[in-house]
Amino acid sequence: MSRPYGPHILPSDITPEAVFMDRRRVLAQGLAAGALLGAATPLTALAADAAATDRYKAPRNARYSVTDTPNSYEEITGYNNFYEFGTDKSDPAANARNFKPTPWTVTVDGECEVKGSFALEDLLSPQTLEERVYRMRCVEAWSMVIPWVGFPLAELLKRYKPTSKAKYVAFTTLNDAKQMPGQRERVLDWPYVEGLRIDEAMHPLTLLAVGVYGKVLPNQSGAPLRLVVPWKYGFKGIKSIVRISFVEQQPRTSWSHAAPNEYGFYANVNPAVDHPRWSQASERHIGGGLLAKRQATLPFNGYGAEVASLYQGMDLRRFF
Ligand code: MTE
Repeated sequence: MSRPYGPHILPSDITPEAVFMDRRRVLAQGLAAGALLGAATPLTALAADAAATDRYKAPRNARYSVTDTPNSYEEITGYNNFYEFGTDKSDPAANARNFKPTPWTVTVDGECEVKGSFALEDLLSPQTLEERVYRMRCVEAWSMVIPWVGFPLAELLKRYKPTSKAKYVAFTTLNDAKQMPGQRERVLDWPYVEGLRIDEAMHPLTLLAVGVYGKVLPNQSGAPLRLVVPWKYGFKGIKSIVRISFVEQQPRTSWSHAAPNEYGFYANVNPAVDHPRWSQASERHIGGGLLAKRQATLPFNGYGAEVASLYQGMDLRRFF
């Protein structure tokens, strides 16, 4: 197969039938390839049964996984930041129960040759999923270790053929105050938006997650599709994504817009640059208990060997 992943038709070629037929063909080929390899789980209809347990059991990618013991499923899904469902850590689990992550459409647009709105299962098919255990560090100085299930963002982005003007990738969360009660309060300028420089977005560590612990991502964790960038503070990990845009200028991001002196665009984990109101030198590991010692925070959250080169020559105090 010369071009293994669709969609790969230019917008100018598109007739609905052609898109549909092509998608079927690519999907079938992808499934066959997945079966032959017998390794990763081919991603088929996401919409079917969100409650299915262990639906996303996928082989662990050891190359990109840490060996630290993961936090429990209860910790990962009971202590969250998702302001669309409230500002307390327990609010998302309590208030996101009725949120409907299926069916789900993601719009891809901007500086790319292939654009449009895609049902989630078509956007992802026939990607194969993998498990990656990542260290996660929140700007609030707590951390967790999370076994995500997902696939590299780069694999998706390449299929939409970004042009040479695509310098950044911008992401947008669903804007729906009916389903997201937190959006009725003006805590942030809704919808939540985030962005990455194109080389950060294309880095092999940058993941789009659809599951955790082999299960479909629960609503409070950002169902059905969220970003995971393990060397950055957690707020870069935008949840419930409905739009991915290739853009030329650095896009607006929710937290740096809300408090520009406290949160920067880059948000690389950096123990040497304190938040104006607290130190970033150490962190509390969730699940360690109240008496557990705080642990030292590592530059780039411990992923420096992989990502420090992206920022060579940049003053990371200025570009925080
Ligand atoms: N995405 C949206 N749409 N809304 C949010 O409030 N919070 C961010 C990020 N993504 C947030 C979001 C913050 S501050 C963090 S630390 C992580 O999600 C938390 O992810 P988790 O709850 O899965 O640990």
